[in-house]
Amino acid sequence: MSKLLIKTFGCQMNEYDSSKMADVLKASHGYELTSDPEAADLVLLNTCSVREKASEKVFSELGRLKEWKDAKPGRLVGVGGCVASQEGDAIARRAPAVDLVFGPQTLHRLPQLLDQARRTLKPAVDIRFPEIEKFDHLPEPRKEGPTAFVSIMEGCSKYCTFCIVPYTRGEEVSRPLDDVLAEVDSLVSQGVREVTLLGQNVNAYQGAMADGSNCDLALLIHILARFDGLGRIRFTTSHPAHFTDALIDTYASQPKLAGVLHLPVQSGSDRILGMMKRGYTRAEFLAKIARLRALRPDIALSSDFIVGFPSESDADFEATMELIEAARFDSAYSFVYSPRPGTPAANLRDGVPPEVKQARLERLQAHIRDFGIAYTERLIGTTQTVLVEKASRWGNGQLAGKTHCNRWLNFDGSEQLIGHFADVRVEEVLTNSLRGSFVALAAGETLASGVSA
Ligand code: SAM
Ligand code: F3S
Repeated sequence: MSKLLIKTFGCQMNEYDSSKMADVLKASHGYELTSDPEAADLVLLNTCSVREKASEKVFSELGRLKEWKDAKPGRLVGVGGCVASQEGDAIARRAPAVDLVFGPQTLHRLPQLLDQARRTLKPAVDIRFPEIEKFDHLPEPRKEGPTAFVSIMEGCSKYCTFCIVPYTRGEEVSRPLDDVLAEVDSLVSQGVREVTLLGQNVNAYQGAMADGSNCDLALLIHILARFDGLGRIRFTTSHPAHFTDALIDTYASQPKLAGVLHLPVQSGSDRILGMMKRGYTRAEFLAKIARLRALRPDIALSSDFIVGFPSESDADFEATMELIEAARFDSAYSFVYSPRPGTPAANLRDGVPPEVKQARLERLQAHIRDFGIAYTERLIGTTQTVLVEKASRWGNGQLAGKTHCNRWLNFDGSEQLIGHFADVRVEEVLTNSLRGSFVALAAGETLASGVSA
């Protein structure tokens, strides 16, 4: 049996795409996944080009893969994702070990590319953006546990001045509503209890409906909430400019929507937000957060920040720190700005010294860490509803479930609870998880044995 190893760099969209690559190649060529390079016949790198470091990693990895490939005849190497999309043929020229080059929108064509590369003994390249055709050519989704990702849109049309994504993943294209519903229906009938709706800007979702109109994210959440077996809905990533009142209201009206939100703000300075072409001001962002907090006071908010954008002054950075104070994010992804070739910001003069950027980043991260710790500590003594996903990885007979705010909560309980929502009292905060004790099955839950809440 042929074995496939996939190495994924970057975001959740790439994680999702990697799982689809595995599905496609299993269905077409019977490939089984492995994590052992010695056992593998095909290695795929699913790459990220959002920051320079991520792109450079790919080429050093390809250098190592040349030796791996030369060690055994018949081994093949493929490069997918955003670096592939950006570089195209140039990858195969720069790294001769490469046999397949495909973009985020052409991963469904992997079987044909593989056959072509084997037949011609030349690199097979396809990095087009064929309008969402990808989803029509993927095998039926398979349940891999009680939670699943469902991609509802592809690409991004925001063109923030620092970002490469619109060029590597193409413009925003939404999947038709019926396609999304069919995928969720299939997952729920296999026992999935929680879905995360995925896209670069999920709240720009405009899924075509049978009557010719479009469905937005708020409506989609309401429709999905009607699936009986589905207990929790999440989405990521959303853009502040599209964070509509209808979506904010959904947090009040739809209890199945998890009380968690990842809303990348990037900066707290209006001058920098303007240069980034983000399409909102600091005050507009904070007003949306305030409305949301009024409806869901316990919401866990996270964000993305770019520190050291060209010309960022001390005052601009202090404005970001003040925004963090006001918004009380409980976690964030934050990075020093990395110029990406081909983006408008790459041409801006950047006078901020690297050590200043690094010091700002460390201050920002420490501040958010403090908010995160405070949020977690407030959970002690509360009862949280968790979706029980598995036996705890500590192998101590405990179960592990996720809270609405994405914390792992471990507790003693019967394995029958896996795949069910349970109420658990939080007793202790550990470094990366919580510990608690089982209170009851969540309202409306029934175990296979017939026991209910
Ligand atoms: N759709 C999201 C939004 O509303 O901003 C962001 C998606 S982007 C692929 C993920 C994150 O990567 C961004 O939020 C940003 O913080 C970071 N990022 C993108 N380009 C970057 C760059 N040139 N340098 C540093 N970080 C960058
Ligand atoms: Fe990138 Fe801005 Fe879109 S950060 S993914 S261009 S919203």
